[in-house]
Amino acid sequence: MANSPHGGILKDLYIRDEPIQAALQAEAETLPYVTLTERQLCDLELILNGGFSPLEGFLTEAEYTSVVENVRLPDGTLWAIPIYLDIDRAQLDKLGVSVGSRLTLRDPRDDQPLAILTVSDLYQPNRETEAIKVYGANDQAHPAVHYLYHNTRDTFVGGKLQAVNAPQHYDYVAIRRTPSEVRALFKKLNWTRVVAFQTRNPMHRAHRELTVRAARMRHANVLIQPVVGLTKPGDIDHFTRVRVYQAIMPKYPNGMAQLSLLPLAMRMGGPREAVWHAIIRKNFGATHFIVGRDHAGPGKNSQGEDFYGPYEAQDLVLKYKDELDIEVVPFQMLTYLPDTDEYMPVNEVPQGTKTLNISGTELRRRLKTGAPIPEWFSYPEVVKILREANPPRDKQGFTVFLTGLHASGKEAIARALQVALNQEGGRSVSLLLGETIRQELSSELGFTKRERDINVARIGFVASELTRAGAACIAAPIAPYDEARQLVRQQISKAGGFYLVHVATPLEVCIKNDRAGVYQRAINGEIKGFTGIDDAYEAPDNADLVADVTKTSISQIVHEIILLLERDGYIGDR
Ligand code: ADX
Ligand code: MG
Repeated sequence: MANSPHGGILKDLYIRDEPIQAALQAEAETLPYVTLTERQLCDLELILNGGFSPLEGFLTEAEYTSVVENVRLPDGTLWAIPIYLDIDRAQLDKLGVSVGSRLTLRDPRDDQPLAILTVSDLYQPNRETEAIKVYGANDQAHPAVHYLYHNTRDTFVGGKLQAVNAPQHYDYVAIRRTPSEVRALFKKLNWTRVVAFQTRNPMHRAHRELTVRAARMRHANVLIQPVVGLTKPGDIDHFTRVRVYQAIMPKYPNGMAQLSLLPLAMRMGGPREAVWHAIIRKNFGATHFIVGRDHAGPGKNSQGEDFYGPYEAQDLVLKYKDELDIEVVPFQMLTYLPDTDEYMPVNEVPQGTKTLNISGTELRRRLKTGAPIPEWFSYPEVVKILREANPPRDKQGFTVFLTGLHASGKEAIARALQVALNQEGGRSVSLLLGETIRQELSSELGFTKRERDINVARIGFVASELTRAGAACIAAPIAPYDEARQLVRQQISKAGGFYLVHVATPLEVCIKNDRAGVYQRAINGEIKGFTGIDDAYEAPDNADLVADVTKTSISQIVHEIILLLERDGYIGDR
C-alpha cells in the first residue's frame, strides 16, 4: 500500500475547477506582485504540488521559529528545513504590502502568475540562529549559510498560497511529475513498495548496485528521483545528469525502476536535509528511502573539516524513524571488489579484501584530462555522455585576438591563419576583421576612447559566443587600450581558449605600408584621434605572442600561432 502523505493529506494546491482558476488568474493580474528568485520558484513549485505537504504556504514567524528550533511545525509535525519567502522591506513598502494583503507571485523566467499569497505575517529572520540550528554552523563555507547572508532578503513574508498556474517547464517535461502523478503511476504499475533514491550527481555502477540491492532486500521497486532544481554550486548541470539517468535506466532489471525528476532547491543541509528528503519522498508515495554515505553533504568548512560526519544524516533520519513513517534504508559506502567483480557496503567487506574507489574529484580530473574511466566504475553509455559534456581541447572553441596599429599586417596574418585553420578542419572558422565589425556591428560608432571601448567589447561578446559554440574565432581590431583587451580576455577565457597576439610592427613601417595614405591624412590633421599619430596605442605586456612582420614572414607568424594552439591541445591532437 502506498504511503500516506506527511501530515495525512496530500496538499496538492492545484485547482482543477476551471471557473475558479480563471477567477484567480484574473485577480492575480490586479494584485501587487513580486518576481520569485530561482530558489523561491523551486520551493513554490513543491508547496503547490504537495511535495512539501503539509505546508500550504511560506512559513509564518511562529512556524519558522518552531522549525528552526525544534525541527517541527508548531502542531508538532516533523519539518526540518525552513521554507520562507524573503523580500526586501523597501520593495514591500513600495508595493504597500501589509498583513492581510494579497500578493501575486510571478515566475522569473516567463513572468506568469503562479500563485496568490495572503500575507499573514511579516518578520525578520535571525540569520545566526538559523545557520547554527539548521545547518550546524555559522560558517559561510556552507552554501546555505552563504546564501543566507548574501542572497536572502531582509524580510520574511508568511502566509497561505492559492495556486494560479503550475510553473511551465520546457525540458524533460514527460518525466517531471507531481506527487499526485507519481502516486497515480505507482497505482497503475501496481507498485506498493517503492524505495526512492535521491541524487544530485551522475549515477554510476555503485548507484545502480545500491538501489537494486535496496529493492531486492525490501521486495520493492525503485524510484530514481534526482534533483533538477538547485544543487551544490559547481555540480554537473542537470541536462547532462538527466541524459546520464536516462542512459542508466535500461541497466535495471526489466520493470524494476522508474525515473522521475524533482524540482527541489537543495540546501546541502546534511542531517536536516535528509529528514526533509524523506518527508518529500513520502509525499511522492514512496514507502522506503535510501540514505547512504554523506547524504546531501556540503563538503568542508572554513577550517578544512567536514561539516558533518559521513553517517550523521543517517543517524538523524533513523532518530525520527517512527514519526517519519517512511522506512529508511541506510547504506554504508558501497565499494568495488575487483577480485569478485562486485559492489559491497564497506562494513560487509571481509578483512583483507582488495577494494577500489574513484572519488568524485578523481572522476572530474579524468573527465577533464581524458584519462580512462574503467568499466567497473561506470557504464560506457554514461561515460560517453559525461565526456560529451567535458569535451577535450580539440573539440573546444578558441579565439586568436590580434591587436596592433593600422596597416601593421594583422589582417594579412588573420586571413592566413583562417586558411591554415580551414586546412586543419574540425571547426568552423570565423574572421572578425576590424573593418568588417566597424561596418556590420559598429557603424554608428566613431573613434573616441569610449566608442573604441564599446567596439572592442562588441567584438569580445561575439567572439566569446563563437568560442562557446566551439568555433575558431580570429579577431583583428586595433584594440589600442589595455583595459578593454583585458575585459575581452576575461570574457572569452570563460568560454574557451584565448590568445592575444600583438602585431608589433613599428609605426614607420605601418606608415610606409599604408598605401591608402590614411596615416598621411592623420599627420596632415585631416583625421583626428588616429592611433599612433594623435591617439595612444597601449602595447600589451601580456601578449601570448609578439609578432613583427619586419623580422618574421606572415607564414612564420601563422606557424607560431599554430604551435601555440597545438601546445595547448586545441589542434593537431587526432
Ligand atoms: S546527495 O547530495 O544527493 O546526497 P549524491 O547524489 O552523491 O548526493 O548521493 C545520493 C545518495 O546516494 C545519498 O543518499 C548518498 O548517501 C548515497 N550514495 C552515493 N554514493 C554512495 C556510495 N558510494 N555508497 C553509499 N551511498 C552512496
Ligand atoms: Mg555524495
